[in-house]
Amino acid sequence: VAKSKAFYVCESCAYQTPKWLGQCPACGTWGSLNLTNGTTRKAAPPGEAPKMTRYANVAVESAARYTSGSNELDRVLGGGLVPGSLLLIGGDPGIGKSTLMLQVAGHLQSLGKKVIYISGEESLSQIKMRGERLGLSADDLMLLAETSYEMVEQALESDSFDVALVDSIQTICSANIPSAAGSVTQVREVTTKLLHIAKTRGTTIFLVGHITKEGAIAGPKTLEHMVDGVFYFEGDKYHSLRLIRSQKNRFGPAQELGIFQMESTGLKEVPNPSKVLLEQRPEASAGSVVVPTVEGSRPLMVEVQVLLSNSTYASPRRVTMGVDSNRLALIMAVLEKKAGLQLQGLDVFVNVVGGIAIQEPAIDLGLALAIYSSFRNLNLGSDIAVFGELGLAGEVRSVSQAGLRMKECVNLGFKRVVGPKGNAGDALDELEVRGVTSLVDALEYVL
Ligand code: TYD
Ligand code: MG
Repeated sequence: VAKSKAFYVCESCAYQTPKWLGQCPACGTWGSLNLTNGTTRKAAPPGEAPKMTRYANVAVESAARYTSGSNELDRVLGGGLVPGSLLLIGGDPGIGKSTLMLQVAGHLQSLGKKVIYISGEESLSQIKMRGERLGLSADDLMLLAETSYEMVEQALESDSFDVALVDSIQTICSANIPSAAGSVTQVREVTTKLLHIAKTRGTTIFLVGHITKEGAIAGPKTLEHMVDGVFYFEGDKYHSLRLIRSQKNRFGPAQELGIFQMESTGLKEVPNPSKVLLEQRPEASAGSVVVPTVEGSRPLMVEVQVLLSNSTYASPRRVTMGVDSNRLALIMAVLEKKAGLQLQGLDVFVNVVGGIAIQEPAIDLGLALAIYSSFRNLNLGSDIAVFGELGLAGEVRSVSQAGLRMKECVNLGFKRVVGPKGNAGDALDELEVRGVTSLVDALEYVL
């Protein structure tokens, strides 16, 4: 038998090297090189054939979903929890992940589920202190303060838990894996093992994951492929609104939104987020425009604020919060070219109030009008809302779910809407809708 030669393989790009290195020279990932002994995987035992099935003969198992005890969370999950699913909750430190997990644990326990909350970050008394602050009444909730994966596994197998919450995946470390806690290898291997437990025991497992500086959960993107759902916790730490967005969901729609408010006694559901967002809107001022956006199936009225001021810098500042800076550059270019606005030499500050990031292009026209309004020091009026995508030729393009947007405008007492002409068919009686085909068209109306 020839002696197989050992070498190291990068787990993220499969680069091979005979020598161990801290960082993969090919893809730049840290701690991703693993020792392999060169032997290939075991062949299937003889006499075993793959089981193929006719499409028609496959029985569909309808997943028996159950509620998480929170309407907002259920919505994001696609209608409740599916037994045996593995779900990843990511977010910046301090945003409220542990708070949400403990609240969910409490809800589920009080609904009669068998729940275990595993924390590798806090001691039992810290967890209980948080619980008391949240007014948790869950005497039978099981707690485990542990960082060893082997202990976690034993705990999960010691009883038939319906739900397990692991806070956080980066702190759980297996002694059988020769790399440091929180490393790519550890996180991935531990997740694989937990996935196995979820699928074989039917336990729904929530994993909390910290976001790396690059904005990915737990570093390796591979984690996102392994789990059934990936949910991001968003929001401005200094503002009370918290959003949970589904990035990926095998059991429901992606980009769905759940909305909470962080209060002194934990996260509370927000049934009417638009109202909260517009609460402190100054009575009609220049540079402020309200846009009916839609995130997932959720209409959300946001206020876009723009401030222009003479720059003292050689290259003026462009500061955006809540909108993509490339989008802003594009809209400014269209304003300069099509409406003759002289924006060079001005600092531009853009903010979406409430710390919400708007990704959809329906915000374009509202942003353009907010810039224009600030430039001319012109107040558009407090009863007007604006939406529509802007093209490079200055054309205003139709957007999806215009009906839903207009309905939200009516709900919040708006009287006038400027939107794409292509969407004017969805107009409601209560609204005066101005359908526009171009930016210039829209500017003429608000002038
Ligand atoms: P936490 O859930 O610990 O965040 P994460 O697990 O994502 O790091 O939440 C931390 C913040 O939330 C902390 O700054 C305090 C605040 N908070 C409240 O405002 N009200 C509460 O009831 C709780 C428990 C926390
Ligand atoms: Mg935490």
